[in-house]
Amino acid sequence: MSFYQSTIRPLIFKLDAETAHEYGIEALRIGLSSTQVQKFAAKRFGDQSSGTLFRLGLNFKNALGIAAGFDKNGVVVNQLAALGFGFVEVGTVTYQPQKGNEKPRLFRLPKDQALINRLGFNNDGAGKIAERLKNIDRKCVVGVNIGKNKDVPNEEAIGNYLKSLDLIHGVADYIAVNISSPNTPNLRELQNSENLEDLLGALQNRNRELGAKPLLVKIAPDLTEAEIEVIVDTCLRLSLAGIIATNTTISRDSLKTVNAAEFGFGGLSGKPLASLSNKVIRTIYHYSKGKMPIIGVGGIFSGQDAFAKIAAGACLLQAYTGFIYHGPSFASDINTALAVLIKERGFANIDEAIGSEAF
Ligand code: FNR
Repeated sequence: MSFYQSTIRPLIFKLDAETAHEYGIEALRIGLSSTQVQKFAAKRFGDQSSGTLFRLGLNFKNALGIAAGFDKNGVVVNQLAALGFGFVEVGTVTYQPQKGNEKPRLFRLPKDQALINRLGFNNDGAGKIAERLKNIDRKCVVGVNIGKNKDVPNEEAIGNYLKSLDLIHGVADYIAVNISSPNTPNLRELQNSENLEDLLGALQNRNRELGAKPLLVKIAPDLTEAEIEVIVDTCLRLSLAGIIATNTTISRDSLKTVNAAEFGFGGLSGKPLASLSNKVIRTIYHYSKGKMPIIGVGGIFSGQDAFAKIAAGACLLQAYTGFIYHGPSFASDINTALAVLIKERGFANIDEAIGSEAF
């Protein structure tokens, strides 16, 4: 057990989960000086490819990114790179700034190594966040994840997403379209085939007008296989750059935390999500015949968890909850362990391992 897990985490976990998160962001922002960021960000952590990883037309320092929701406002991008994350997905960002849902809205389930959140896209708004990102001398790939304002009905969703896209396009290395958060009413209905085609088609057209960047969609783990098949088909037809699988789940199956229902509605992340997310990754890999790049996310806590997602068909990875439970050494530990596992299993590099256990 690390010093963080034995000593620091028990203190942090005494605080309400959202307050702890806010302190964590401040500690990163203030605690890592720009010189330290320069020094650490230049370092490679368990580089799996003896060079940079070329994915989505971009160069990644390593395969593990920090998932959307951790740095919603893009304030600690370089600090996260310095901790060993190969990329940062900022957001979810909405066109208008939003406060999000009533507090408390973030809960820990330590027995399950999980979190439940119903934050509801609290963020500074696309304009302000774009301005902030423009001024960062970034040390890693920076994606921006866009969503819909809560007070905008689904019938007007396309216009709302387009306005965010216009504002953040210039500062994003890739763009992720979030239609899978359980905390914005009816948002996940945008995953239905007709809505999806219209929304992604409009966003891809505007993306091309603005100078095409990799456009990805982030999906829920609670979809049926038939629904995933339709989504894959639509993404291939619209030449999307990839699928991020998955967001949090609304399921509360087989949790060890007996009072989980008391936390109310929200998305469950962490360990209990891993197998659900891996199943979605395998399904995407299967229906796209390995052609659709997949960012695998959901329940990565160890090198084995990371490898399982690569073997299921992911070419990049993201994590959030594992970082909360493991602390600052998380990204470098996972990257190092993944590099060792890839070699141990007899693969020359990460590329060879992708999809090796998909069927
Ligand atoms: C999230 N997640 C998330 N996803 C997203 O697309 N936009 C968002 O704003 C957020 N916000 C958010 C807040 C909190 C507190 C958590 C825990 C999660 C989902 C996240 O990006 C990821 O898909 C899931 O958490 C699954 O990964 P982990 O946490 O199991 O590694």
